[in-house]
Amino acid sequence: MSVTRSSRRDFLKQSLIAGSAVAMTAASWNRVLGANEKLNIASVGTGGKGWSDLLGVAASPHVNVVALCDIDESKPHLGQAAEKFPAAKRFFDYRKLLDDANSKAFDGILVSTPDHMHAPIALPAMQLGKHVFCQKPLTHTVHEARQMQTAARKYKLVTQMCNQIQSHEFYRTAVKLVHDGVIGKVKEVHSWQAGRMGWILADDRPAGMEAVPETVHWNEWLGVAAERPYLPKIYHSFNWRAWQDFSNGQLGDFGCHILDPVFSALKLTAPNSLWADAPPINKEVWTKWSTVHYEFPSTEYTAGKTINVTWYDGEGHVPANDLMGLPPGFALPGSGSVLVGEKGSLLVPHVAMPKLFPEDKYASTKIEMVAARDHYVSWADACRGVDKTTSHFDYACPLTETVLLGTIAIRMPSQTLKWNSAELKITNNDKANGLLTKPYRKGFEPAWVS
Ligand SMILES: NC(=O)c1ccc[n+]([C@@H]2O[C@H](COP(=O)([O-])OP(=O)(O)OC[C@H]3O[C@@H](n4cnc5c(N)ncnc54)[C@H](O)[C@@H]3O)[C@@H](O)[C@H]2O)c1
Repeated sequence: MSVTRSSRRDFLKQSLIAGSAVAMTAASWNRVLGANEKLNIASVGTGGKGWSDLLGVAASPHVNVVALCDIDESKPHLGQAAEKFPAAKRFFDYRKLLDDANSKAFDGILVSTPDHMHAPIALPAMQLGKHVFCQKPLTHTVHEARQMQTAARKYKLVTQMCNQIQSHEFYRTAVKLVHDGVIGKVKEVHSWQAGRMGWILADDRPAGMEAVPETVHWNEWLGVAAERPYLPKIYHSFNWRAWQDFSNGQLGDFGCHILDPVFSALKLTAPNSLWADAPPINKEVWTKWSTVHYEFPSTEYTAGKTINVTWYDGEGHVPANDLMGLPPGFALPGSGSVLVGEKGSLLVPHVAMPKLFPEDKYASTKIEMVAARDHYVSWADACRGVDKTTSHFDYACPLTETVLLGTIAIRMPSQTLKWNSAELKITNNDKANGLLTKPYRKGFEPAWVS
């Protein structure tokens, strides 16, 4: 593979090139293609989940993969993608990929990197007029999420967050059951992810450093985050989830999945307020459990003036059955939600068939399945004007903001935070308000959109 490692000189040169690409107002390129045109795509982060994102979108016969970018050139990362798409140009630095001349080659971009790099890659791409398919949670900070929504609107782009279970028949069926009034207006919701966080390998930042493998571009992996020494397995790959600089912990990892049918079913937008119960936290690692209590304004699908949605994470940390109208002894799935309605309760497992309670009452209720959609190809089709996306950024940004507000509450337990979404402000706590954004490393600062 012919990707050269970055020297300091190259790094500075690339920063300048990326800066010039971003400064160009290329919104004139953004356009929905014709139904008979091919969509040329670039994929950033081609290993891990990025591999299935790439295969999912490239499954469309109308897609050409023209560029691949990954900071790790080894087989499970850039290597296998390069083998599968040998004609695609290869990069290890997204700034180089977005360089003016290179970026003219593609219409849309897949962003499947660790969370701290989603917005720094997607925002300049959007400013170049690129349609975006981006992993969940959409961003690392609340401010970044609002920026993504602003950019998508400003440049009129086709966007999709990859909370792909939204397109599964099980989640779609659960949403329809609520919209059809089967459980009546919803009084409260409990959502949980009770799995083990196997990626927490240390309780604080480990000392020491090791040589960076030949295939890995560590400076580019860190990207916007402050420099820290390389250590194998601790961060790259997958285990970055443990660390506040790169992820938003278990709520960040699963909130945009598990809260998604709740958001869609109840048509939620932004919470009024929230608070968390969680153990003490340092500035490095996410907690091993949390409970986050959200209060949302009412909607046409809820009962009362407000509706409480409670999130639980941590191994075995689940809501009590009697809170949710479920029989004692009923074994909850490892993750999912229960929507408690005026007529009954709906269990929405992640990912399995929804179930109605009390079981006797709903024994003869026939559940009509809602057909699945293809979350990946539908984005490619929407870029060609022949479909619409469902997790576009007008939907995905408020969902992501809600999830990420929860991760602010986890960092300051037992304090009620009041949220003014229109002003993008936590109105009663300056320290929490400061956590809506974060510092960015020089050379990687995102170009913000106004
Ligand atoms: N939708 C889902 O079901 C689902 C499942 C798993 C992961 N994810 C999301 O996918 C994203 C990636 O997670 P993962 O588990 O695959 O992580 P990972 O660390 O296993 O893989 C990330 C890939 O991106 C590459 N990469 C890292 N930084 C990069 C950069 N700056 N530029 C280019 N390439 C870079 C890595 O080398 C690796 O190939 C995360 O946002 C995660 O939340 C979503």
